[in-house]
Parts: sequence; C-alpha cells; structure tokens
Amino acid sequence: MSSNITWHKAAITKEDRHRLYGHKSAILWFTGLSGAGKSTLANAVSSALYSQGIGAYVLDGDNIRHGLNKDLGFSEDDRKENIRRIGEVAKLFVDSGQFTLTAFISPFRSDREIVRNLVHPSEFIEVYVQCSLEECEKRDVKGLYQKARAGEIKDFTGIHSPYEEPFQPEITLHTATDSVERCVEKVLHYLGKKQFISKK
Ligand code: ADX
Repeated sequence: MSSNITWHKAAITKEDRHRLYGHKSAILWFTGLSGAGKSTLANAVSSALYSQGIGAYVLDGDNIRHGLNKDLGFSEDDRKENIRRIGEVAKLFVDSGQFTLTAFISPFRSDREIVRNLVHPSEFIEVYVQCSLEECEKRDVKGLYQKARAGEIKDFTGIHSPYEEPFQPEITLHTATDSVERCVEKVLHYLGKKQFISKK
C-alpha cells in the first residue's frame, strides 16, 4: 500500500444514515453450492425488504463475474480474490446504510471469515443455503453439473473442488424442504429479532 494516502473521514456517518432511513445495515452473506438457491433467496429477501421501504442491494456471483471480477477464474487463489473484493464492496454498502445481500458459493471458510472480520461482528450475517449435492445436481438449473461430470468444466464446486460448510452460520435455510416464502420469513425474523429492522 502506498504510504502517501490518508483516510478521509466521511462527513455523514453510517449511524447518520441509519437514523435517516429508520433501519440498520448489514451483510447477508448467502453461501452454498451452485444451484442451492442463493440468488433466488437473496433476491426474494431483497424484494421483501424493498416492499417495506428498506434499502437493500444484491451482489450476485454470476453477475459480478461479468464485470468487476471478470478477470477471475475458479482456482483457489481466484476464488479467494473474488470473495475479498466482494467483501470490500459489501462493506462499503453497509457503510452506505443499506443491506447487502451477497450470493456467492464462497466455498472456503477462511475466505468467509476474512469478510466477517472486515465489519463489526454483528454486521456479518452468514446465511447457509443448505441443499445436498445430490439435490443440486438433480436440479442442475444451468446444466453445469452435467458439464462438470463430463469433464468440460474443471474445479467445479462439489465435484472436483470442495465446499466447506459453515460451522456456526447465523441462519440456515433448507431449500429442499422449505419454500422460498418460509426462507424469506426466517431471514426477516432474524433481522427483526436482532433489531436491524423494526418488527412488523
Ligand atoms: S465462488 O466459488 O468464487 O464464490 P461464484 O459464486 O463467484 O463462485 O461463482 C459461481 C458461479 O459461477 C456458479 O453459480 C456457476 O454458474 C459458475 N461457475 C462456472 N465455473 C464454475 C466452477 N468451476 N465452480 C463453481 N461455479 C462455476
């Protein structure tokens, strides 16, 4: 890092914004296998927050890899850098007073812990989107598992690259058994209970 840069203190703080908007902000970090339902749920929670007048924004793996992270692949190092950059962006969104919902496989515990440590401990909410590999493979929404099995994609998570389940996620959602509505309710309940948003 250059020694010639200094941190400029913002005129408006995160707390100012919380007062203005009437809610707090945090990262909702959705993690899980490809096809588990991360993007679907992050978008559904974002819509539910929006309808309550709450600021929220979704950062989605596939989309971010079209722009900010289009130089990155799926090696361990690239995934690490992918998550590091998203962590920094998510932190900025939290500072802007909005909820950031991230939908990345983020297969490595150590990378997720790095993001957790970027913000205040209460502001990182790990949401484990739990779904067995068998079920994700059966869904195969994008046809990628089939390609991975055929050897057309390398380093595919769950096939040739590991997914490390969270030890103590703040929220666990089971997409094979619970409906999208039920999962959304669970997340909103958590945010209400922890006083990020006011209870309905
Ligand atoms: S992460 O592992 O670095 O967190 P990220 O969530 O950004 O992954 O991207 C995962 C998406 O990229 C998957 O949903 C899938 O559509 C696509 N993809 C392409 N190649 C791979 C691969 N080798 N492993 C996992 N996902 C892949």
